[in-house]
Amino acid sequence: MPKLRVGILCGGQSSEHEISCISAGGIMGAIDRDRFEPVLIGITRAGTWVLLDQAAKLEIIDGKLPEIDPSLPVITADIHGFSVNGDPLNLDLVFPILHGPYGEDGTIQGMCEVAGIRYVGSGVLASAVAMDKSFAKPIFASHGLQVADGTVLVSGEWSAQQIAHLSYPLFVKPARSGSSRGTSKVKSFDTLLKAIEYAFEYDTKILVESAINGREIECAVLEIAGTPHASPVGEIKILGNHEFYDFEAKYLDDATEVVFPQDLPAGVEAQIQAAAMLAFKALGCEGLARVDFFYTDQGEIIINELNTMPGFTPTSMYPKLWSRGGRTYSEIISALIDAALIRSAHVTR
Ligand SMILES: Nc1ncnc2c1ncn2[C@@H]1O[C@H](COP(=O)(O)OP(=O)(O)O)[C@@H](O)[C@H]1O
Ligand SMILES: [Mg+2]
Repeated sequence: MPKLRVGILCGGQSSEHEISCISAGGIMGAIDRDRFEPVLIGITRAGTWVLLDQAAKLEIIDGKLPEIDPSLPVITADIHGFSVNGDPLNLDLVFPILHGPYGEDGTIQGMCEVAGIRYVGSGVLASAVAMDKSFAKPIFASHGLQVADGTVLVSGEWSAQQIAHLSYPLFVKPARSGSSRGTSKVKSFDTLLKAIEYAFEYDTKILVESAINGREIECAVLEIAGTPHASPVGEIKILGNHEFYDFEAKYLDDATEVVFPQDLPAGVEAQIQAAAMLAFKALGCEGLARVDFFYTDQGEIIINELNTMPGFTPTSMYPKLWSRGGRTYSEIISALIDAALIRSAHVTR
């Protein structure tokens, strides 16, 4: 059987450019080469598409994070597909390992739809909705999932009255950011305005929520042969003096630890797994998602967010959760490609 040509799309215009590159490097090292022929495609910070060498080093070298080099051969990507100097790349499928805006938010997915190219992961609608917490939250709530109490503020249109009913501490965060950028924990009214202004630096729409006092527990969902499955759950333990899972805690070495909690009351893990699957279906996700929850001392399971293209380096939470669930990094990659191959076009004609 001829090998499938899989375009591994990485980099991109969001703040998670480097993480995306490291994820792509991990995929290049683990993809089943008996079945797939990967074609490495980079998107520069400025948004230019370039063809990378198969052997491109997409890893941290001497403490330096990888980045897409804009001087590489430019790829033309349009509704007729992808080509370099008029030569088509003949891709059978695209794996958009991109995080954040212009990647995880439905835009690349829409481009692939119009070009008639299959791709790994959620479609246009699920990607766009999951990216915007102000839309995802009410959908989760309408499916019976518990969400944090809160309100949405739109730049130039909000009033203090909207926040009056919320009790401190509060979390203030952009509706469409990631990596905890623009997010603050606010303990009293005096620092609220500063936190609101800070979040508005990242987005024109922000969320103000009551802080949930709970453990942060995550669950990975993977579609295998058309059916979503939930992984064992993992807990993020924040070490040192970070107030919450902030940017530094996420990306600095030794700031967090992932544990597989042994002390959850009977049935709680299964409830979180069921909630993760419900969230996956509520947004109409496909392929994969990492669903993040709070588990409170009162035993509540509160959904925080769903990521349609979670961090995917070999040491990221998503593969870690599946490794615990008995699936290797290579097997997950193959399952994701298989899931993309069996589904029909997303847009109903
Ligand atoms: N309502 C909340 N209560 C408690 N902690 C929160 C709340 N909202 C956000 N956080 C903290 O901020 C982190 C980042 O917020 P999150 O909504 O996950 O945004 P991002 O998309 O940037 O990851 C969370 O992992 C958690 O530590
Ligand atoms: Mg998060």
